[in-house]
Amino acid sequence: MSESFYQQTNNEPDKSFELSLRPPGFEEFHGQEKVTDRLMLMVKAAAMRDDVLEHILLSGPPGLGKTTLANIISNATGTNLHTTSGPQIEKAGDLAGILTNIQKGDILFIDEIHRLHPAIEEYLYPAMEDYRLDIIIDSGPAARTIQLNLPKFTLVGATTRAGMLTSPLRSRFGLVNRLDYYSQKELATIIKRSAQLLKVDIQDDGADEIADRSRGTPRIANNLLRWTRDYAQVKADGVITAQTAHAALTMIEIDNDGLDEMDKRILESVIYKFRGGPVGLSNLAVALGEDASTLEEVHEPFLIMQGFLKRTPRGRVALPAAYQKLGAIPETDQPGLL
Ligand SMILES: Nc1ncnc2c1ncn2[C@@H]1O[C@H](COP(=O)(O)OP(=O)(O)O)[C@@H](O)[C@H]1O
Ligand SMILES: [Mg+2]
Repeated sequence: MSESFYQQTNNEPDKSFELSLRPPGFEEFHGQEKVTDRLMLMVKAAAMRDDVLEHILLSGPPGLGKTTLANIISNATGTNLHTTSGPQIEKAGDLAGILTNIQKGDILFIDEIHRLHPAIEEYLYPAMEDYRLDIIIDSGPAARTIQLNLPKFTLVGATTRAGMLTSPLRSRFGLVNRLDYYSQKELATIIKRSAQLLKVDIQDDGADEIADRSRGTPRIANNLLRWTRDYAQVKADGVITAQTAHAALTMIEIDNDGLDEMDKRILESVIYKFRGGPVGLSNLAVALGEDASTLEEVHEPFLIMQGFLKRTPRGRVALPAAYQKLGAIPETDQPGLL
């Protein structure tokens, strides 16, 4: 059950729930200070110059706040937010349709920007640099380019794979704003804020218990909170204590470290099937029947951050913490591991 729980949290978030818990401004957005400090400074500088914000790239694993920040930027600048995603823009005409609807200063948010079609990227370059769209009409000898001038706008791109961005696109952004997994303390703060919005009573140790198992991810924290609230309502007196949280999360098989079914299967596979590694990503993906990019974008960063896995040039290697987690004994021909 925990696997589907996480899958839902990562891929198909409940939109109305997400919206209601989404912080509307920087002051309610906890954590990621490095990124928010920079963004606030950019917003302020642009306001002082009465100018449009520079283009912004946000990167990091799912559920850490990229879409939320795009909304916050648009709120902070008092501009309209136009949302689309890389795979959604199939033809140059789609892009032209969006860009010609934009007003001066508006934010164009392109989610999964690493999945933009290469041909579309070509159209985007002059739009980003010179606020100009060169549209080719007709084909063959009759082909002509017409130039459309666009109002100055801000492109906010979000990606789970900054490394997959082509370098011409990457270079048209200033800095890469990389979001990292949240600390337990930050998550506990976020959980308490969400609990307030959901009008559920939560004790500090209850919030800590949920934070511990949230994989460093606010989206997961909010989903576990929602589940725990239901549990507390039915099985306890509605108050989320450490005990209720523990019981609620045990019921859906959420691990003490926040590992989900797939995380555990990854560790099992590396240790038992591939004798601790090194194993290449594609071999691992085949063994698990999972998409390689999901492994790389969703699961691996967390396992690496927690010290369960290591990436080496020859592939993924299980670390001592992974053996401990599974109660497995490392093979003796791997000196230095323990
Ligand atoms: N720093 C934060 N403080 C409070 N809530 C957050 C924060 N970051 C994310 N969230 C919550 O987590 C959910 C997922 O964030 P989202 O912006 O959709 O992530 P991403 O776009 O990176 O996948 C949002 O609904 C939001 O409520
Ligand atoms: Mg998003």
